Amino acid sequence: MQLDSRIAAVVTGGASGLGAATARRLASHGVKVALFDLNAAQGEALGREIGGVFCAVDVTKEEQVDAGFAKARAAHGQERILVNCAGTGNAVKTASRDKATGEIKHFPLANFDRIIQINLVGTFRCIAKSAAGMLSLEPLADDLHSGERGAIVNTASVAAVDGQMGQASYSASKAGIVGMTLPIARDLMGEGIRVNTILPGIFDTPLLQGAPDNVKAALAASVPFPKRLGHPDEYAQLAEAMITNRYFNGECVRLDGAIRMAPR
Ligand SMILES: NC(=O)c1ccc[n+]([C@@H]2O[C@H](COP(=O)([O-])OP(=O)(O)OC[C@H]3O[C@@H](n4cnc5c(N)ncnc54)[C@H](O)[C@@H]3O)[C@@H](O)[C@H]2O)c1
Repeated sequence: MQLDSRIAAVVTGGASGLGAATARRLASHGVKVALFDLNAAQGEALGREIGGVFCAVDVTKEEQVDAGFAKARAAHGQERILVNCAGTGNAVKTASRDKATGEIKHFPLANFDRIIQINLVGTFRCIAKSAAGMLSLEPLADDLHSGERGAIVNTASVAAVDGQMGQASYSASKAGIVGMTLPIARDLMGEGIRVNTILPGIFDTPLLQGAPDNVKAALAASVPFPKRLGHPDEYAQLAEAMITNRYFNGECVRLDGAIRMAPR
């Protein structure tokens, strides 16, 4: 797909970090971008900066997702691009013993479910609703031979494969995204919609910007090469490649400087 002002995109989690970098990169090519996010202040500001539209959407809420797509499509027309970046993590051991009191606890199941609902079900909800909208489109005129209607990029994590201590729910949610990538690509292959997933390593986003400098330095040193955190625009570059390269489909790609996460 060629990126230009005929194309509309929805970026979830678009107010911050990897989603914001992707929104900026798409907009730099003229793409009309709608940002779905919980963070209205940052989302509105970025929407103004890139000439896009902010939609207050919690991806776990069916009616908010529907309203978000309705607002985005009213402003820009039916999107041909969906990038799913909305997500969050937590760190809780499956079962543990409090060192001071000896109290034994297990992972609160409501907490486990919350991460699955945001990262996995939220991603699938946006894919299903966006793909249904894309089916109403004609293939792009310059893409008639491939019959392409749209492209979807999801965000998993290297934790889908080498999750660390405390990451049972996060890793399960991200492994679910990896697992559903190929079957969704197969579901949509007859309609000319491609689906790919990025597994980021450690990126310098607001998720990490609160960490002390020594923690960030240790994380950077643990990356084989280059010895630094990933820049959000490096994620956006791969998202752009997955969108524009018409042969990229059904694939999950690590973007991680060759890091393999240790147990903790
Ligand atoms: N930064 C990293 O190192 C890293 C590594 C691997 C995977 N990831 C994944 O990349 C994605 C983006 O992370 P980031 O680092 O840019 O973090 P970030 O916190 O900067 O951005 C995430 C955005 O998602 C939004 N969001 C969270 N829950 C939401 C919900 N229920 N509905 C709508 N929006 C919601 C947040 O408001 C935020 O703006 C996440 O899925 C994360 O798991 C990040």
